[in-house]
Amino acid sequence: MPTVYYATRDGQAQRIAEHICRKLNDAGRQAVACNLLPALPASAELAAAPLIVLVAAVRYGKHLPEVDRFLATYRALPTPPPLALASVNLTARKPGKTTSSGNAYLRKAIARHQLAPALAVAFAGRLDYRRYSWRDRQIIRFIMLLTGGPTDPDTCIEYTSWDAVEDFAAQIVALQHSH
Ligand SMILES: Cc1cc2nc3c(=O)[nH]c(=O)nc-3n(C[C@H](O)[C@H](O)[C@H](O)COP(=O)(O)O)c2cc1C
Repeated sequence: MPTVYYATRDGQAQRIAEHICRKLNDAGRQAVACNLLPALPASAELAAAPLIVLVAAVRYGKHLPEVDRFLATYRALPTPPPLALASVNLTARKPGKTTSSGNAYLRKAIARHQLAPALAVAFAGRLDYRRYSWRDRQIIRFIMLLTGGPTDPDTCIEYTSWDAVEDFAAQIVALQHSH
């Protein structure tokens, strides 16, 4: 039974993880989604998994802190199961920024933890200014100004390509056939 672990603050990585689970379930996999924030899985749980799926949101230039702790535990396993890694960030809304070579957050996480993921992808997240604190809103509006994104403080846009999420789920199913 594959577990789809996720790290989120505003819910988009969770929605993506749950969508992946639904697709895995449709393929007869009985997947469950698990939030890393309340408790990180024990290394024995990770070691016993046939395959590990991680959906990790980015905030202020890095994946959320529980992602690093999770990947450190994963990396310390004597024989880590295959990893399907998905990063959720707004940079991935741009063409060419959804792959491990094109997306800096994905590339850095892989290098930092010396990972060799079976699958690695970046999904575009959600921009919802009204949810953010005043400070976060101003900073993100400034980043959007620099990167040609929307700066209207009422903007709420989901950039996530659900087709890309479903492709990723299909690739996970295919991986499990080959293991
Ligand atoms: C405070 C804050 C900081 C963010 N920093 C970045 C960033 O450095 N780079 C980026 O590409 N996206 C950044 N984002 C966009 C988030 O990655 C995006 O909104 C994503 O959907 C958040 O995932 P979550 O809803 O699962 O928390 C930031 C969002 C917030 C609210």
